[in-house]
Amino acid sequence: MEVERVQDIANLSKETIPEEFIRSSNEQPALTTVCGTVLEVPVIDLSDPDEEYLVKAIVEASSNWGMFQVVNHGIPDETIRKLKEVGQAFFELPQEEKEAYAMPPGSQTIEGYGTKLQKEIQGKRGWVDHLFNKIWPPSEINYRFWPKNPPSYRETNEEYAKHMHGVADKLFRCLSLGLGLEGDEMKAALGGDDMVYLLKINYYPPCPRPDLALGVPAHTDLSTLTILVPNDVQGLQASRDDHWYDVEYIPNALVVHIGDQIEIVSNGKYKSVLHRTTVNKERTRISWPVFLEPPSDLKIGPHPKLITEANPAKFESKIFSEYCASKLNKTPLKHN
Ligand code: OGA
Ligand code: NI
Repeated sequence: MEVERVQDIANLSKETIPEEFIRSSNEQPALTTVCGTVLEVPVIDLSDPDEEYLVKAIVEASSNWGMFQVVNHGIPDETIRKLKEVGQAFFELPQEEKEAYAMPPGSQTIEGYGTKLQKEIQGKRGWVDHLFNKIWPPSEINYRFWPKNPPSYRETNEEYAKHMHGVADKLFRCLSLGLGLEGDEMKAALGGDDMVYLLKINYYPPCPRPDLALGVPAHTDLSTLTILVPNDVQGLQASRDDHWYDVEYIPNALVVHIGDQIEIVSNGKYKSVLHRTTVNKERTRISWPVFLEPPSDLKIGPHPKLITEANPAKFESKIFSEYCASKLNKTPLKHN
């Protein structure tokens, strides 16, 4: 079966888009975006030596926004530049070459090159193709789905994964201390060093009708945290007080999303952020989220130390894979 990639559909017409990409009026970006206001989500300088300040800033951002950006995060600009370069180069390969990495139909894994086939509840599709690769730990890596072209794809992504630990560990530590737990308890509750780093590249080709279509529809991430690098094309939006706002693009910053699993472990103190993406008429938007996910068989629930008679558990404990299956079956809110 020939799968229709959005990248091909984008080449069919410069004026119109197929009906299945046209959102209903309660989702169309032109009708639902608060114009002229770019959301200044908190920007946090991760190199600040004052840990108390950092904890406070991260707690505030995670409780009130569920999203923030970090600068001076320790990942070299050059590593991020290369990450973007090799990802973009893959999507610019001829279509047949990309199809060699296609997610096999009916496969259990979400790894590989693909386009979401399963339609959303209203039968709509997102204006985006993607590539999923597990990049950490080494035992989870499946090179079958890693592009051989460009040749530096592997080395570049391995380098990025290596640098990502420092950022992830610092964030988990601050989030843990912010709940009154020991510094390592949050990460331990989420799988510790067995956590899986799942890289997704979202490729949003130019869209003739960015006023009518969405890239990724509204959702919260299933992950613990998501750490995202965007290119410079505006597109990420966050929901605040039931309105949609553009999130400011900051060169070399990382966008951090609180995902469902941290909301659960924190018993609701930290909020997973509702977000979506829009697309651009002339330019290709690309983003590189890394979903930090618990091992699939790990049971996640509110941290026992946070539960008291006065503050009972607000969430059921669930095996991560079962949590994902039930969320994906029940609602159109998906992260992929
Ligand atoms: C996602 C997502 C945001 C973006 O893939 O889960 O929310 O900026 N992407 O592309
Ligand atoms: Ni997301």
